[in-house]
Amino acid sequence: MASVRKVALAYSGGLDTSVMVPWLRERYGCEVVAVVANVGQLEDFEAIRQKALASGASSCYVVDVRETFARDYIFPALRAGAVYEGRYLLGTALARPLIAKVQVEVALRCGCDALAHGCTGKGNDQVRFELAYQALAPHLKVIAPWREWELRSREDEIAYARRHGIPVSATPEKPYSIDQNLWHTSYEGGVLEDPGAMAPPDMFQLTVDPADAPDVPHYVQIGFEGGFPVSLDGARMSPASLIESLNAIAGAHGVGRVDVVENRLVGMKSRGVYETPAGTVLLAALKDLEALTLDRDTLHFKELIAPRYAELVYYGQWYSPLRAALDGFLEVSHRWVTGTVTVKLFKGSCVPVARSSPYSLYRHDLATFGEDAAYNQKDAEGFIHLFGLPTRVFTGVHPEVRDLKVEEQVGG
Ligand code: ARG
Repeated sequence: MASVRKVALAYSGGLDTSVMVPWLRERYGCEVVAVVANVGQLEDFEAIRQKALASGASSCYVVDVRETFARDYIFPALRAGAVYEGRYLLGTALARPLIAKVQVEVALRCGCDALAHGCTGKGNDQVRFELAYQALAPHLKVIAPWREWELRSREDEIAYARRHGIPVSATPEKPYSIDQNLWHTSYEGGVLEDPGAMAPPDMFQLTVDPADAPDVPHYVQIGFEGGFPVSLDGARMSPASLIESLNAIAGAHGVGRVDVVENRLVGMKSRGVYETPAGTVLLAALKDLEALTLDRDTLHFKELIAPRYAELVYYGQWYSPLRAALDGFLEVSHRWVTGTVTVKLFKGSCVPVARSSPYSLYRHDLATFGEDAAYNQKDAEGFIHLFGLPTRVFTGVHPEVRDLKVEEQVGG
């Protein structure tokens, strides 16, 4: 066991990371610096700081990175259209590299020689933390207590905490695990482990049940500049405040719930439930504005890279050359994705219903069913003739494909 003098622990204030403070001190004989990143979780940070100190940390740093999270992590992923396996908007996956970065910064400032996190050995988050550590401070030792200690259950942890005089909260633990930040609240584990069982209705924190949402629709107008959201109903807002405000509006209309079985990076399938109200609206609005402002080829190419971007975020490869390269592409492709989109929120649905942009590529004179001035319909004849040339050549060589047997197919 390598010797450790001082470790920076990514601290949440929960039971796991609280127990880790005395465990690290006992096992490694080291000093523990607790690091808390405020990424928009609704917590009493002063209480968390006190708890870290009461658990035996020599100091506790609470760093508010909500704006950085929104501007440099969430919005680039939104612009990329990053949605894992088509449904998960990556709230947890996006926060981990930033939390790790905050932790590394504190560690370097305090002269720590090790980093520790509270992730289990079965999830994605351990990978995300440790890939970030490798990118940002590969010389620091990494300690993952969950992969090392002999505590096997919550009961073991509570007994350990009691033995070490750590405050254990009296409120009974929720029957599932929650991870919350500015972008989403996620739930997994416990009663959710049976994918055949519905999630408990009282579980949700950010959204109402769509059935209980108002019976009248609400229209919200999102403004974008260069593919990033900048305003809500005409009022300019900082990235974090825009997300916070829109979470409240969309959540009240039951928008943004998903319940999925997903493929974890470490191999198994797991069931997760997510609430991403603002994210769901922003994504729908952005796609709508892209349809208006991107040319066909660029739009289709962007749709090809979006799932790849989602994958690298999910896999913890935020600090990677591929992510930087894809952002470089998006910086150029989205230069003129600027304008406003009106979205209708109604009982859990979120539908763009109007859009406009100073850089709109929509030309009424080209699209109209009215009289032609800009478009000569006779041009279409030659276009279609050449567009069909490969088809005519192929069927000439393989005439049997012309035998479509329509009668057989319709049962004639
Ligand atoms: N499965 C999600 C992910 O890997 C969420 C993980 C954390 N959520 C939780 N409730 N503990 O990004």
